[in-house]
Amino acid sequence: MQNSVRIVEVGPRDGLQNEKVAVSVATKLELIARLVNAGLTAIEVGSFVSPKRVPQMADTHQVVRHLSLDGPTRYPVLVPNEQGMTAAIAAGVREVAIFASASETFSHKNINCSIADSIERFRPVIDMAKAKDVAVRGYVSCVLGCPYEGAVAVDSVVSVSRRLADLGCYEISLGDTIGIGTPRQAQEVARAVAGEIDVAMLALHFHDTRGQALANILACLEEGISVVDSAVAGLGGCPYAPGAAGNVSTEDLLFMLHGMGISTGVDLDRVVAAGHFITTALGRPSGSKVAQSMGVDPASRALCA
Ligand code: HMG
Ligand code: MG
Repeated sequence: MQNSVRIVEVGPRDGLQNEKVAVSVATKLELIARLVNAGLTAIEVGSFVSPKRVPQMADTHQVVRHLSLDGPTRYPVLVPNEQGMTAAIAAGVREVAIFASASETFSHKNINCSIADSIERFRPVIDMAKAKDVAVRGYVSCVLGCPYEGAVAVDSVVSVSRRLADLGCYEISLGDTIGIGTPRQAQEVARAVAGEIDVAMLALHFHDTRGQALANILACLEEGISVVDSAVAGLGGCPYAPGAAGNVSTEDLLFMLHGMGISTGVDLDRVVAAGHFITTALGRPSGSKVAQSMGVDPASRALCA
């Protein structure tokens, strides 16, 4: 088992993109500052997508304007096409994430084109990124199941991952978009993709709709993957993935990893405090079981120290 795991915090993007409550730029910035203060070094902060489709991310350029984009913390943003990449470059972003799907129907619902067309749309995005020395991460959605098609072929996951790597993505994040996978399945998919792409280039992005995310992550850590996406307070969901709940919570992930002696460089107490801040702003309880237990159970707090 690896000694350390790198966490990519996706709370300010995935976590807030589906929230009904409007979150101000100031609140987003305070959340991001608290996450940085907790030791997170990669924080996805927004999306340059259609504001009609995802209004919660329409202020991304304002969020980005207040961040130290050339400092040690990475602040990737989602970019679906040339229009988004042009906006990201104008905002001075140093890292973007392109997002494809292993399911045709989800691709159409989410980004309004086929899988093959999405890859073609990403080519000029990658060219623009290379010209400006902007790093590009790639997502593959629906790797363990699709809200529209049900089962998704492992071959499709492998082939889309391969195409994103061939385009020039430095990392491929495997998305269980609707949190439907179970550990053996997750492990098989991770193994199949790792058979095609260097395992050091792979990351996990598991939503926790059915409470399987930590088990699935552990199964994939056993395959050698050592980068995991998570969201503070278990926020998250995709507007085009009906029924999907939040991402695995950063707090629960940290509790599991630290308990197993796997280091992350992230301070659990500070993430819990950041989660308290954002869930108070949203007016709802944390989706993190660890955060919930730390609020009521001092013994658990001592265990986490
Ligand atoms: P489209 O309709 O095919 O694009 O949308 P279009 O080129 O025909 O343009 C239509 C309108 O969108 C035009 O505006 C464009 O200007 C505008 P109008 O003339 O109607 O006023 N437009 C844009 N505006 C701002 N930024 C842009 C942009 N592009 C076009 N970049 C598009 C294609 C992809 C833009 C659209 O379908 C869209 O925005 N979809 C939303 C995708 C999204 O953000 N989904 C959620 C994130 S993905 C996710 O959560 C999964 C993930 O977490 C991993 C996992 O969990 O599996 C990453
Ligand atoms: Mg997601």
